[in-house]
Amino acid sequence: MQKSPPRTAILDCDPGTDDALAILLALASPELHLAAITVAGGNAPLARTLANACGLVALGAATVPVHAGAARALLAPYPPGWPGHGADGMAGVPLPAGPAPAPTLAADAIRALLRAAPAPLTLIGIGPATNLALALATEPPLAANVEEIVLMSGALGAGNATPAAEFNAWCDPEALAIVLAAGPPVTLATLETGRAAPATPARIAALRARAAAARPGRGRAAATAAAILAALPSPRRGAPGSPLYDPCALAWLIAPALFAARPAAVSLDLGPGPSRGRTSIDLRETARARVLDLLDPDGLFTLLGGRLARLP
Ligand code: RIB
Ligand code: CA
Repeated sequence: MQKSPPRTAILDCDPGTDDALAILLALASPELHLAAITVAGGNAPLARTLANACGLVALGAATVPVHAGAARALLAPYPPGWPGHGADGMAGVPLPAGPAPAPTLAADAIRALLRAAPAPLTLIGIGPATNLALALATEPPLAANVEEIVLMSGALGAGNATPAAEFNAWCDPEALAIVLAAGPPVTLATLETGRAAPATPARIAALRARAAAARPGRGRAAATAAAILAALPSPRRGAPGSPLYDPCALAWLIAPALFAARPAAVSLDLGPGPSRGRTSIDLRETARARVLDLLDPDGLFTLLGGRLARLP
């Protein structure tokens, strides 16, 4: 059966441990063609997240250009990241040295790619939304060249960065508000989506076994992914494992049957108080935004293991 052509996407990220798994999943999946990876600070300072993104491209033996972007949010510096990512952003797991970043800055690269695209592109955001907001706010007509925006962002309930806010939304709520209002349909993988996919010891062992069973000379990317997952402390006492947030945003585009998408109206608290960055998600409205429910967590890890096994 004729397979549909790959979806061309730009992946904006702040690697970050779960970003790393999402990036490797994207690089290993023929359903996606990454036109560029753009990087912001967030989980670690930009210098670290940029080096990590370049190292992950090398680990995946890919040639995707990597562009440096925002080192701070629109209105303030980024807050400190979740300590589970470690000072290096990779929980201490080493990556190979990567290629030099491309010379164009992230927001300019996003705009240039959208302007030149022969067909609408997909924007994927798995870090603070600063780069996406700068691109879309600087040249609003480019929104017509965006097929869909998929974000790991927000929460229906309690946050993880603060009691009110999910980390990416909290880092730059104004940027998220700009992206939500830009016009293209937005699909959110929320905290609840990722919490349905804890990296349990059994799932990590299965990933490690896939890496060990790889043909000679292969399996390094899968082994690195398993090592990253194993190095993560669970952020919630008693949880069976660390949630897999960012890979859910990519898996939606690769294997949508793993999810259900519900229409939602999303609004942001942009005030200075303790609820800053809270996403109020109204599921009652039929709106252009959607939130994802993960229906098959085992299917997600099977997808991840199978795709990572394809990498060197
Ligand atoms: O709240 C989870 C999000 O914040 C993920 O993207 C993780 O990488 C961190 O950036
Ligand atoms: Ca991230």
